[in-house]
Amino acid sequence: MNIDSIYALIADDMKQVNATILKRLQSEIVLINQVGTHIINSGGKRLRPVIHLLCARAIGYSGSQHIDIAAIIEFIHTATLLHDDVVDASDLRRGQETANSLWGNEASVLVGDFLYSRAFQMMVGVGNMQIMSILANATNTIAEGEVQQLLNVHDPETTEQRYLDVIHNKTAKLFESASELAAILGQQDPEAQQAMARYGMHLGTAFQLIDDVLDYSASSEEMGKNIGDDLAEGKPTLPLIYTIQNGTKEQADIVRKAIEENGLDYIDAVTEAIQATGAIDYTADCAEKESQLAIEALENVADSEYKTALVDLAKFAVHRTF
Ligand code: IPE
Ligand code: IPE
Ligand code: MG
Ligand code: MG
Ligand code: MG
Repeated sequence: MNIDSIYALIADDMKQVNATILKRLQSEIVLINQVGTHIINSGGKRLRPVIHLLCARAIGYSGSQHIDIAAIIEFIHTATLLHDDVVDASDLRRGQETANSLWGNEASVLVGDFLYSRAFQMMVGVGNMQIMSILANATNTIAEGEVQQLLNVHDPETTEQRYLDVIHNKTAKLFESASELAAILGQQDPEAQQAMARYGMHLGTAFQLIDDVLDYSASSEEMGKNIGDDLAEGKPTLPLIYTIQNGTKEQADIVRKAIEENGLDYIDAVTEAIQATGAIDYTADCAEKESQLAIEALENVADSEYKTALVDLAKFAVHRTF
């Protein structure tokens, strides 16, 4: 199943999710509507809602709360993007100028806060303490992950483990919530809930590993983001960590220097080094293993076209180019 067939499978649900998003985006404050509409209408893959909807369908959930939860998850994701582009000083997202570039850092941070708190208002509407708890913890963990990452910036001693902690927290956690919450809505037993949570967690980890590969190797047009933003900010992602540990002394030295200083000055040498040492292949292999673990977590889910889509989505996370 390609990505379009996956979207087609849940098109009706997704239409409702998008309607909910647009409705709940509204505020009496014009600037909130402008910034909110800009980022929401600029598209995005809507992957986390897709996962939530597919998981809900795969276990035969027949209620309607999955629509609100999918919208809540996308709001939380969107809030993190508004904040992320400020922190990363990024000026391109989803093929358009970022909100911080158009309206400034202040507006981006504050509208990000609006989206976070709107998500919590919507959770109160759902009215389920277990769901509230999972989303509150996920949001808190994302914030921790971003702060952990901040502490690694410009630090070439960052270990693979510290990097993995960051990506589990800042990215995989929300994917985990997306799948786990579907199992909770569908009143699955605790074991099945944990298995679904594992699916999202492993897929999300694979997704960020590949995001970090693509930051060195993708086309900016296809990604809709600037390539090289990680190096520009001195972020020790796995391709760099691997090169420091496994490259020649020259390769390791140049990567260390790039992390410590203005990375973009060394972009060509770094890109060459991470290719030559096999760091890109190593990172992609790690993503492939995570994707396999995600697929294995679906072992006890009954066969259906929704399950097939979930399996193929785990493969897409690794083989994507955008
Ligand atoms: C971007 O997420 C942030 C990361 C976790 C890498 P997506 O790649 O899912 O962003 P959109 O929503 O599709 O733009
Ligand atoms: C994802 O990391 C951050 C979030 C979870 C918000 P990145 O900083 O790599 O995301 P992009 O590449 O800007 O989308
Ligand atoms: Mg970023
Ligand atoms: Mg970031
Ligand atoms: Mg990135």
